[in-house]
Amino acid sequence: MGDQCEVFINDEDKPLDQESLVTALCSSEILCPTVTDSISAEVFALAEERGIRTKLLANFGVGFNHIDIEQASRLGIAVTNTPGVLTDATAEISMALLLMCARRTGEGERLVRSGAWDGWRPTHMLSTQVTGKTLGIIGMGRIGLAMAKKAHHGFGMQIIYSSRSPLEGSLAEDVGATRCELSELFQKSDFISLHCPSTSETKHLIDQEALAAMGSHAFLINTARGEVVDEDALASALGEGEIAGAGLDVYENEPSINPALLKLENLVLLPHMGSGTNETREAMGMCAFDNIQAYISGAELPNRVV
Ligand code: DGY
Repeated sequence: MGDQCEVFINDEDKPLDQESLVTALCSSEILCPTVTDSISAEVFALAEERGIRTKLLANFGVGFNHIDIEQASRLGIAVTNTPGVLTDATAEISMALLLMCARRTGEGERLVRSGAWDGWRPTHMLSTQVTGKTLGIIGMGRIGLAMAKKAHHGFGMQIIYSSRSPLEGSLAEDVGATRCELSELFQKSDFISLHCPSTSETKHLIDQEALAAMGSHAFLINTARGEVVDEDALASALGEGEIAGAGLDVYENEPSINPALLKLENLVLLPHMGSGTNETREAMGMCAFDNIQAYISGAELPNRVV
């Protein structure tokens, strides 16, 4: 690509601050932000004052809630993402979290490393079996479906789901999935895994009321976006035993973690690593590259969001 355009790389592998983002929008025709570069209405407004040069935001990631899409669209800036290539990697981390919190593997590992383990006992560290239980999936897109496949085919789980659109017949049959209302999903699921985007409708979808509806046997898994869960309500539900446990890969204010969450033993915490495999990160890069190449050659953008 170096022979077609001048390329500037953020070598620090860290999110750009507001001033750097504004400068980048005013100096580059194409930007390739990651999901931690917050291109808010404020950033667009500051760049607009100075004169925006960017015509394409080729996002390195599938989620694009960090970009104010309405403003991008108003300013005639195209936005693309990287769907499809991180499906299995993210579903693997969802399944890992589900197993970890059901089988208390985080607690177990901490016990062994602390030197306090005193040997096998019939009632020691009892946990919840996963096989055959009911998994409720909220958001049955690509990642939700990949999770359903792993859970159903690998662990014999029953799948119920809530999603804007129903699964096509043969796909639903393959994973034995039944669509239901959210209220029914909260009541019937042993595990709930979130795979919906972060929007104004899904903000704090998992609130105090939802957690109370889940019940003390249930577990919550979130590899979608932190904003979907009210973290204060979750910390309180976990602390009071209103739900059995939870596994999180994403947070409301990344990379800060709500201090109330850090104290809980029945919670597994991961550092937003759903798509973090070598294979997937390379594929995400190639996907962003394809969008950039299409823009340069004037072709239709393969993964256009707006
Ligand atoms: C995404 O792509 O949206 C993930 O959260 C990071 O890879």
